[in-house]
Amino acid sequence: RTLDDAVDLADKRVLVRVDLNVPMESGRVTDATRLKAILPTIRDITGKGGKVVLLAHFGRPKGRDDSQSLAPVAKALEGELGRKVAFASDCIGDEAKSAVSRLASGEVIVLENTRFHAGEEKNAPDFIEALANLGDIYVNDAFSTAHRAHASTEGLARKLPAYAGRSMESEIEALTKALEAPQRPVLAVVGGSKVSTKLELLGNLVQKVDILVIGGGMANTFLAALGKKVGKSLCEHDLGDTARDILEKAKAAGCEIVLPVDAVVATEFKANAAHRVASVDDVKDDEMMLDAGPETVGIVKQKLDAAKTVVWNGPFGAFELTPFDAATVAVARYVGDLTHKGKLLSVAGGGDTVAALNHAGTAERFSYVSTAGGAFLEWLEGKALPGVEALRR
Ligand code: 3PG
Repeated sequence: RTLDDAVDLADKRVLVRVDLNVPMESGRVTDATRLKAILPTIRDITGKGGKVVLLAHFGRPKGRDDSQSLAPVAKALEGELGRKVAFASDCIGDEAKSAVSRLASGEVIVLENTRFHAGEEKNAPDFIEALANLGDIYVNDAFSTAHRAHASTEGLARKLPAYAGRSMESEIEALTKALEAPQRPVLAVVGGSKVSTKLELLGNLVQKVDILVIGGGMANTFLAALGKKVGKSLCEHDLGDTARDILEKAKAAGCEIVLPVDAVVATEFKANAAHRVASVDDVKDDEMMLDAGPETVGIVKQKLDAAKTVVWNGPFGAFELTPFDAATVAVARYVGDLTHKGKLLSVAGGGDTVAALNHAGTAERFSYVSTAGGAFLEWLEGKALPGVEALRR
C-alpha cells in the first residue's frame, strides 16, 4: 500500500521512517540527496492535513552520543523543505510525547536518533510499542535502511497500518525495472572503504554479474591477499582468506575480476598531499593508495565499452580529497556519457557514490541513482529486504 491508499490523514500522527544518515562535515550536510528524496512524502502528508513525525538513525552510535545527534540534519531539512521543522531530543518518552502532542495539522518534527536506544537495532517489542504510541499510521520512506530489521524499519510495520512512502515506491519501481532481466554483459563496480561489510556481498555478486571491478579500500585487501605490498593503505589483512575465496568463486562462476594495476599513492591522508603514480607492485612501506591510477582507469573504460548494464556502488579512491577524486570522476563521467548515448543502462547507489557522482557532475546522466547503499547491494544480490517485506505483509 502506498500513500495513494492513505486518504484520510487529516490530523493523524504519521510516523514516517526516513533516512537522514547523510554525509556531514563539521556539522554541515555535504550532500542533500537523501533530504530531497523525502520531500514528496512529507508534502503529500502535510498536504492531506497529517502531522509528520520523522524517525531516523544517524551513524552507528552505541547508546546516546551527542556527536551523532540528528539536530543539525533537522535544520538542513528545514532549509530543503522551506518550512519549520521541530526537533525533540529523544525519540521516545515524555519529551517525544509532549513534542508530538503539540504538533498542529500539517506540521513536521524530527525525533532524535533512534539508535540512541538499544531497542531499535534489537527490534525490541517494548521499544516498538513506545514508538507506536506516538503515531496513528506508519509510513516507510527509507528504502536505503530496508535491509535492517530494526524497530523503526520493520517492527512498526507490524504494529500500525503501514504504507510505502513516495521515495520507497519509486526506488522499488526503478530498480525492478533496471535489474529484473538485465542486458548482458553486466558490469558491477564496487568500491569504497566499508571493506568487511562488502566483502561478503561481493561473494554473492560474482555469481550474478559478468565483470566485477573492485576499487577503493577493499581493492587493497584483495591486492594484499594476492601477495602485494600495500604499505600503509587501508586494508583488512585478516580477511585474506575471504578475499581469495571470493576470487575462487568468481572464477568458478565465470565472472571476470578487475583489480587496480596502478594507484595514486601518498604518505599523508590529506588534500593535495605530495603524491605519485605507482604500479601496485611498487608501493613503499610508508605510502598509502588513495586512488586508482590512470592505467587502471583505461582498463575500466575498455570493459565499460563492452558492457550493456552497469551497477555501481562505492568510489575508487578518497574522492573527497583532491586530487584523489580523479579515477572516480573519470569513470563516472565515462559511464554517464555512454548512458547518455544510449549504449548503457546504468544504476548507481550509496551515499558516497551519489556524492561522488554529484561531484563529477554526472549523476543526472545515469539511468537511475538510488539513495541506498547497503540496501541497494542486498537488492542486487536478490535478498529479501525486511523493511520491504514487512510493508508487503
Ligand atoms: C546507509 O547509510 O546506507 C543507511 O542509512 C544504513 O545505515 P547502516 O549501514 O548504518 O545501517
